[in-house]
Amino acid sequence: MCGITGYIGDGDCSTIIARSLKNLEYRGYDSAGVALLDGTLEVHKQSGQIDDLTIPSMPNATCGIGHTRWSTHGAPTDANAHPHTDCSGDVAVVHNGIIDNYEAFKRELGDDHEFTSETDTEVIAHLIEDALADDADLRDAVEDVVAMLEGSFAIAVTAVGHEGIVAARQDSPLVIGHTDDATFLGSDVTAFVEYTRRVTFLEDGDIARLTESDVTITNGDTLVERERQTVDWDADAAEKGGYEHYMRKEIHEQPHAVRQALSGRVDELAGAVDLDLSLSREYCNSLDEIQIIACGTSYYAGLYAAELLERHADVRVSVHVASEYEFRGNRDPWRTLVVAVTQSGETADTLRALRKAAGAGARTLAVTNTVGSTVAREVDDTVYIRSGPEIGVAATKTFASQVTTLALVTVYLGRQRNAISSNEASTILRGLSAVPGAIQQVLDAEPAVRETAEEYADGDAFFFIGRRFGHPVALEGALKLKEISYDHAEGFPGGELKHGPLALVTEQTPVVAVLTEGTNADETLHNVKEVESRGAPVIGVTSETDPNPVFDTALEVPAIGLMEPVVANVYLQLFAYHVANQKGRSIDKPRNLAKSVTVE
Ligand code: F6R
Repeated sequence: MCGITGYIGDGDCSTIIARSLKNLEYRGYDSAGVALLDGTLEVHKQSGQIDDLTIPSMPNATCGIGHTRWSTHGAPTDANAHPHTDCSGDVAVVHNGIIDNYEAFKRELGDDHEFTSETDTEVIAHLIEDALADDADLRDAVEDVVAMLEGSFAIAVTAVGHEGIVAARQDSPLVIGHTDDATFLGSDVTAFVEYTRRVTFLEDGDIARLTESDVTITNGDTLVERERQTVDWDADAAEKGGYEHYMRKEIHEQPHAVRQALSGRVDELAGAVDLDLSLSREYCNSLDEIQIIACGTSYYAGLYAAELLERHADVRVSVHVASEYEFRGNRDPWRTLVVAVTQSGETADTLRALRKAAGAGARTLAVTNTVGSTVAREVDDTVYIRSGPEIGVAATKTFASQVTTLALVTVYLGRQRNAISSNEASTILRGLSAVPGAIQQVLDAEPAVRETAEEYADGDAFFFIGRRFGHPVALEGALKLKEISYDHAEGFPGGELKHGPLALVTEQTPVVAVLTEGTNADETLHNVKEVESRGAPVIGVTSETDPNPVFDTALEVPAIGLMEPVVANVYLQLFAYHVANQKGRSIDKPRNLAKSVTVE
């Protein structure tokens, strides 16, 4: 995710803001910038590394805000970097999150305001400019503007002629730091933990005015007191938000990541999605087939998507491990849509496969997390999954975001091809909007998963079974466990067990079975019986509506329909994490593995 920092006090403001930006570097970013106030506003921002950003020494500056950006709207360019300013250059805004309704404001403000970026954020600066024209006070102006915004955001604003910083939070974290003679702001404690551990966490709907010695917080019409706490985190713990590993932090970020993937793209009532694609109705209807190319976890997200697309978009889909891909198109290759699924957008195998397809004349679409990545530059269309940076080598939150985004692509194509009615589309979209809450319920059950992991951690090997949508989840569960615990783990469609793998099943090989909605659970239950009769302990991940779970351990997924297997996957991530943690493995950087595989 992006990072926010702010400072008001007598210290060396430009140095403190520069240090805070460095502290936020771990979150991943593609551009950065600062706004410093000393009577006038000085903004410095650019794409690339913080070390290359020139932050002038301004001895009289007492107030500043800074930002590290991970692009969601517009490429990582100097112009799109934050802070963003209004027409006068007197108001500076930094922002994390997504403003769903920014395009409508941009159109409305268009004639009277000059926009210099492609971002959603810039509209906030211009709206505040207008609000300040009626409203002398910056806090009131921010309050008026925030009331008009839809989406998730944390913002910090500073303006010429107004004291301090005004900050607002809606679904995106913000924390204030206090010392006797200064006030800090951060999207997390890391930004300022080297200066203070006395903090106040803002809550959704809070608007805070920060001055050097004082903080006032309102929520709606009410003045609120938020508890001042002392965190005992060191800088390393703070980077991980208090979690021991990035992987666990990222597992816990999934409700937010999925919300971001859906944000502003879904009209549930109308059964419509807007992904800003150039795929016309005519093209969608002329499609012969979709070929998905990807590696590892992204490949499993592709397998999940293939089930969705075949069911709801009535199109033939093949899924290819990118390193094995050859383009075998029809007489009109353009009628084959090749979809590259890649978190990093830089995976060499996926890029090579994509170039083969594009070279043969196929149409291409990227589903990626990384704005400005090589894949995004080379394809005809891109849809971003908006997970925010993933630092743990093992992919976790990006799997959920990839599947969610590909489900949106499915609804888009399904409607364009008249393969589903608007009512059917609405049902799928309702199921998608239930995913964040359902994932949260699974995360809340983490203590039970930890106990299960501790009970079975010494297994000789681990098998994961699941059918239909449960199959890619079983494969992903096994991949996660093997890569971070170094245990032998394999995933199968349940029906394949008896064709060979059953020979390996003993009392010492726990079997994890995915039996939620969409997984042909009744049939998988036969396979559960097969392994149980060989003495294997079974961990069943079931829908909460399952009438008679018969497992050694049952982990329940809230009943939300077709997306239940994605939620089940969160149990498998937690299981892998706790097995690996029990063994003291190097969870965030497993041996022999790299986050982005840029060699073939
Ligand atoms: C597994 C994992 C890898 C990646 C694979 C593709 O946890 O992270 O299997 O999924 O290397 O990477 P991207 O999605 O960046 O193309």
